[in-house]
Amino acid sequence: MTIKNAAFWTALGWLTSVAAAPGSPSAAASLPVSTSNVAGLHVLAKQAGKLYFGTATDNPELTNTSYTAILNNSQMFGQITAANSMKWVSATGLHLDATEPQQGVFTFAAGDVIANLAKQNGQLLRGHNCVWHNQLPSWVTAGNFNAAQLTQIIQTRCSTLVGHYKGQVWDVVNEPFNDDGTFRQDVFFNTLGQNYIATALNAAKAADPNAKVYINDFNIEGTGAKATSMKNLIKSLKSQGVPIEGIGLQSHFIVGEVPTTLVQNMQEFAALGVEIAITELDVRMTLPETAALLAQQKKDYETVIAACQAVPQCVGITVWDFTDKFSWVPGTFAGQGAACPWDENFVRKPAFDGIVAGF
Ligand SMILES: *[C@@H]1O[C@H](CO)[C@@H](O)[C@H](O)[C@H]1NC(C)=O
Ligand SMILES: *[C@@H]1O[C@H](CO)[C@@H](O)[C@H](O)[C@H]1NC(C)=O
Repeated sequence: MTIKNAAFWTALGWLTSVAAAPGSPSAAASLPVSTSNVAGLHVLAKQAGKLYFGTATDNPELTNTSYTAILNNSQMFGQITAANSMKWVSATGLHLDATEPQQGVFTFAAGDVIANLAKQNGQLLRGHNCVWHNQLPSWVTAGNFNAAQLTQIIQTRCSTLVGHYKGQVWDVVNEPFNDDGTFRQDVFFNTLGQNYIATALNAAKAADPNAKVYINDFNIEGTGAKATSMKNLIKSLKSQGVPIEGIGLQSHFIVGEVPTTLVQNMQEFAALGVEIAITELDVRMTLPETAALLAQQKKDYETVIAACQAVPQCVGITVWDFTDKFSWVPGTFAGQGAACPWDENFVRKPAFDGIVAGF
């Protein structure tokens, strides 16, 4: 039979819409896809007065040229974060075991790949991270160090890392709180109390006065006990003259459960004299994906972007990778996934349109 164009079949009523995303093959299933045709999310963020729209990325992903073609597009992403390769050790061993596998032995090769990519693409880099309870080498966790020794270890690590990647924004301390707002009982807190936080921030700032130093955490995006503890920590640090310039709201959300107090909470942080960044945004769902879940996810992305838009001190937004192909979610939350704005085949989802609408 003769091949007719879409208009022909639409006129016959056989085809009601042409559903492919701009430049993409049609979605495999009958799930809806993005219909936006914008140059890029970073361009929109800049037009909206923000510094950037960015994404996390990870070294093993860079072998996929379809992926890096999108990642490299500085109109789409004006900022990148190394998901693993600047951590103390990596989770997978694919990052030359990250930055300090043995005490005082620093390896920056994998982190440098991400830093160089940002530089070549003209993208901002977010340093992630100096001190965190997770992905620690056993020489730190099992070293039985006393307070003076562990203080020195934190100082050496933060100053070496931040000094190596000068001029960046840094998540200096990552996830210091439990969900109930108490301090997390990790090797740093158990040995040094909350002083380890000031030690890390001071060392980072001393290594690079141009670095912008943040604390980053999850479940502090809406008001509540954990956010209150973070606010109290900021007040305490500021009263001691400790540098603290920003607060990272990780923003790993669940479809339909974005907190309703995002704007109020950001305003409360801003009132303490810190800037705010949405650092690890994704919105996961219980699989399988449905049109209804994707529609709610689109709304959720829009809600988060609009909240940042409503608060001038919210400087930018980073998604925790842009494609479901490389999302951390399925590996961490059994049965959940589809959390990113691009699907596994790099087709833009309705969530992409939610981001566009949020700006
Ligand atoms: C992405 O950018 C890097 C750095 O400039 C380059 O080496 C790589 O070939 C680019 N990849 C694609 C697919 O454009
Ligand atoms: C890159 O990812 C796409 C989407 O999953 C896949 O189809 C393609 O085969 C991958 N390419 C490489 C070189 O791995």
